[in-house]
Parts: sequence; C-alpha cells; structure tokens
Amino acid sequence: MKRRVGVLISGRGSNLGALIRAAAAPDFPASVALVVSNEPAAAGLALAAAAGIPTRTLPHRPHGRDRAAHEQAIQDTLEAHAIELVCLAGYMRRLTPFLVERWAGRMLNIHPSLLPAFPGLDTHARALAAGVALHGCTVHLVTAELDSGPILAQAAVPVLPGDSESELAARVLAQEHLLYPAALRAHIEDRAMRPAPGASLANPLPQLRSEP
Ligand code: GRF
Repeated sequence: MKRRVGVLISGRGSNLGALIRAAAAPDFPASVALVVSNEPAAAGLALAAAAGIPTRTLPHRPHGRDRAAHEQAIQDTLEAHAIELVCLAGYMRRLTPFLVERWAGRMLNIHPSLLPAFPGLDTHARALAAGVALHGCTVHLVTAELDSGPILAQAAVPVLPGDSESELAARVLAQEHLLYPAALRAHIEDRAMRPAPGASLANPLPQLRSEP
C-alpha cells in the first residue's frame, strides 16, 4: 500500500510536480493524496488539480496572529484525508511546535542550500556572496527550529565562475527535483541514501542523475 502524502505549498510548486511525477510510478511507496496551500494564488494548486489530486486552500491571514488556529485547520484537513506523511515544498510559513510535534519524524522539508549552511531565505545570493565553491539542497526532517532538523539527504552542485543568482538557483532546483522524491522514498523504505553512482573522492560531487 502506498503511503498517503500531503504536500504543503505556498507558490510555484515545481517540487510538488517532481513528487507527483515520481509518485505516479507503480513501485513508488507514496501517493500525493492532498495538496494544501496557504496562498490562494499558488500556481502549484493548478498543477495538483490537473493531476486529479484534491487541493485545499487554507489562508493564514484570517487567523491573524493565532498561528495555532491556522495550524489546527491544517491538522484537521490532513486528518480528514488520512494523511500519513507531510512534505513541505516551498511552504513559506514557519510552523510552530503545535503542528511540528504532531508530525515528528513524518514531516519532511526541502531547503535550497547545503544545511547547516544558509538556513532561511535568499540562499543562492548568500552562497554567491560567501564565495563557496559548492552549493546544493537538503531534505531534512522538520523540527521546531527553522531548517535545523535531522538531514535525510543532500545533493551538491558547483558554483561556477560568473554565476548569476538565477543560474545557480536553476542548477540547484534541478537537483531538488531529483533529491526530494529519492529522499522521500528512502525515508519510507527506512534506508539512508547512498552516494550517487559516480561519486568518489576524485569526483566528490554527489549530483543526482535522472534515470535513463
Ligand atoms: C525551493 O527552492 C525549495 O527548496 C524551497 O522553496 C522553493 C520552492 O520552489 N523550500 P517550488 O515551489 O517547489 O518550485
């Protein structure tokens, strides 16, 4: 039986799209059973609807500062759809322990940096400003502290001379789309991610490649 995954988004939804495509494979151990957005205009909602996935918009603004009330609405929706695992995919609200603790070990996030470097926003600009040679993305379990939960998987990309922020972001995003489904599968199947084929000391970048 596929595990029922709920995906929380706020915007574009390209990682959601990667999860939907991966989950369509019969041997993938999860199905995307629900997509929740706090932003009514999130493009990812249309993506999910086109794939026949139930969507819910749960705006945070009507709840004002009452984060628990908003998170209770999310919790109720997840329960109503019998969700077993949650994937944050560009969900731009900080979650409080109210929701995070209910999903301990069952809520994943993808972050566009090699954590613990560059938690928070504007990771690509900060990586360029810092002059790092390697950048990338991380899938981690969500804990109450932002971008700090146990790391499940990472993929690295080189920072190339003259890179613009958007060029670097695109290189990282291509890896995100491979990493998130792979990390979700590994988490469900309870195995650590092995280094990608080809990764070695001579070629230490564990870049993921699409299946041929
Ligand atoms: C991604 O870069 C993800 O790592 C970050 O937010 C962005 C969401 O992009 N958490 P998308 O909505 O999945 O296209």
